[in-house]
Amino acid sequence: MYQVLKSQPSYTGKVRDVFEIDENLILVSTDRISAFDVVFSEQISGKGQILNQISLAWFEYFKKIPNHLIESDHLKFPEPFNQEPWLKDRSVLVKKCERIDYECVVRGYLSGSGYKEYAKTGQIAFKDYPKGMKESSKLPEPIFTPARKNDSGHDENISEETMKTEIGNELFTQLKETSIKIYSEASEAIEKEGLILCDTKFEFGIYDGKVILIDELLTPDSSRYWEKESYREGFTPPSLDKQILRNYLETLDWDKNPPAPKLPQNIQDEILEKYKILEKRITKCISLK
Ligand SMILES: Nc1ncnc2c1ncn2[C@@H]1O[C@H](COP(=O)(O)OP(=O)(O)OP(=O)(O)O)[C@@H](O)[C@H]1O
Ligand SMILES: [Mg+2]
Repeated sequence: MYQVLKSQPSYTGKVRDVFEIDENLILVSTDRISAFDVVFSEQISGKGQILNQISLAWFEYFKKIPNHLIESDHLKFPEPFNQEPWLKDRSVLVKKCERIDYECVVRGYLSGSGYKEYAKTGQIAFKDYPKGMKESSKLPEPIFTPARKNDSGHDENISEETMKTEIGNELFTQLKETSIKIYSEASEAIEKEGLILCDTKFEFGIYDGKVILIDELLTPDSSRYWEKESYREGFTPPSLDKQILRNYLETLDWDKNPPAPKLPQNIQDEILEKYKILEKRITKCISLK
C-alpha cells in the first residue's frame, strides 16, 4: 500500500510535496510560500490550487513541447490516491524524470538580481551590456541566465559558457532555445491581456532519453508578472507575483536566513488576491487561442 498520509510524502520541497509511485510522481502544490529559499510558517490557503491551475493552463497552451504531465484529475490517480479529496485541483501525476540540475532562467526585462548585478558591474549573468539601462528596462532581446541547483538549497548563477561546458553544447542549446521560445510565446500571449512577463524560470528532466519540461510552468512563484498599464522604466512596477513578498521582506531587518519572519495577514491577503487575479487573466487570454 502506498503512503498517502498528507504528512508523509516521499520528498518535501519548499512548496510541493512529492509522492513516488513506481515510475511516476504525484506533485502536490501545498499552500506553503518561500522567499530567498526560506519557507514561511504561515500557509496561504488556496495558493496551491491557483499555482497548479496556472501551470496546467500553460502546459496545455504549450502542449507541443513534451512535458511530464500524465493526469491532473485526482479521481483518475492510481489507488489509493484517487480517494484523497485534499488532492483535488492541487496535484498532478507526472513522469518521474532524471532532473537536469539547472534553473533555466529567461529575462526580458531588467529586474531583481539581474538589475542588481547590472547596476553594480554593468554585466548580467557575466556578460557586458550597454550602459544606461534602468531598473525594469526592456532588454534588447530575451536573455538566458542559468543557475545551477546546488545541494545547499541555494542556486548559483552561472554563465552560459559554464553551463555549456558542464552539459555539452547540444543539450545546452536545446534548453536555451526551448526556454527562450516559451518565454517569448507566453509574453506575446498575455500582452493582449495587458500583462508583461518580466522573467521566468523553467526546469527540465530526461525521460526515456528525451528532454522534457518538468516542475511548474509560468506560475507567479516562478515568474514575475507586471501590469502593462503601470509599467515605467526606472521603477519597480507593482507585481502580481511573489515579488510582493520579496518587496515586503526588503523593508525588514532580516538577514534572509531561517527562521523566516512572521508574515502579516495583509501581505498574505495581498498575495492571494494578486494570484487569483492572475489566474483569471491568464486562463482567459490563453484559452482564447
Ligand atoms: N517530473 C519530475 N521528475 C523529477 N523531479 C521533479 C519533476 N517535477 C518536479 N520535480 C522536482 O520536484 C520538486 C518539487 O518541489 P518544490 O518545487 O517545492 O521544490 P523546491 O523547493 O523548489 O526545490 P528544488 O530546489 O529542488 O527545486 C523539485 O525538486 C523539482 O525539481
Ligand atoms: Mg520549485
